[in-house]
Amino acid sequence: MKISIKSLNDIKKMKVAGKLAAEVLDMITPYVIPGISTGELDKLCYEHIVNVQNAIPANIGYKGYEKTICSSINQVICHGIPDNNKTLKDGDILNIDVTVIKDGWHGDTSKMFLVGKCAPHNERLVKVTQECLYKGIEVVKPGAYLGDIGHAIQRHAKENHYSVVEDYCGHGIGKVYHEEPQVLHYGKAGTGIEIKEGMCFTIEPMINQGTKYCKTLNDGWTVVTKDGRNSAQWEHTIAVLENGVEILTKRNEEFA
Ligand code: MF3
Ligand code: CO
Ligand code: CO
Repeated sequence: MKISIKSLNDIKKMKVAGKLAAEVLDMITPYVIPGISTGELDKLCYEHIVNVQNAIPANIGYKGYEKTICSSINQVICHGIPDNNKTLKDGDILNIDVTVIKDGWHGDTSKMFLVGKCAPHNERLVKVTQECLYKGIEVVKPGAYLGDIGHAIQRHAKENHYSVVEDYCGHGIGKVYHEEPQVLHYGKAGTGIEIKEGMCFTIEPMINQGTKYCKTLNDGWTVVTKDGRNSAQWEHTIAVLENGVEILTKRNEEFA
């Protein structure tokens, strides 16, 4: 399969899906406080997508996954499964990752939440990881290379003495949830696939305080750090335009 190129009209529809995905994260933000369970957060997101947005939660049924969001706490890197018995504690860091389908098009995004009062080292991890996402997005334009994205992210993580998870990557997105190309969060500038106008893909760096190594728990989904130290992730869906890049999953707080 080759990389699909979206028309401006396709991108307009991707923008609608992206906006809805971002709105789910905006909607859920006030609920993310100590004492709530990740199962309750999942239910609120499901109800919002289905009843308010008239959209489809893309994660449900994806490779047998049964929930609307992934909720990944502390040492969980990604794909944490919401659970009514998993309650947020003061000082946790949480990623919520959600994908919405509207009119056949996907919008995929995630953000980190600081639950209550967090330790400075966790706040720093969350902040630097968001900077990594932005540094990756900044280099995107027609004629640049996917390796430029990975390089920008890896350099910033390294400068801050963090590691980049290599086992999971960003991905092309459109009518299909995960399509070509793979977008690595590490690499060398000027290498890999050339970025072209009309490409849509996610950038979703997972950054660890300790080593880059991962393991998957027995539930078959939950990915944790091998050394038990914390991990953070931020994700946007973006479109490559003639003159650069547009973030399709911007939240309210990101509009200047
Ligand atoms: N949203 C994730 C990504 O960024 C994929 C989650 S798949 C699920 O690509 F099945 F775990 F929900
Ligand atoms: Co994604
Ligand atoms: Co995602």
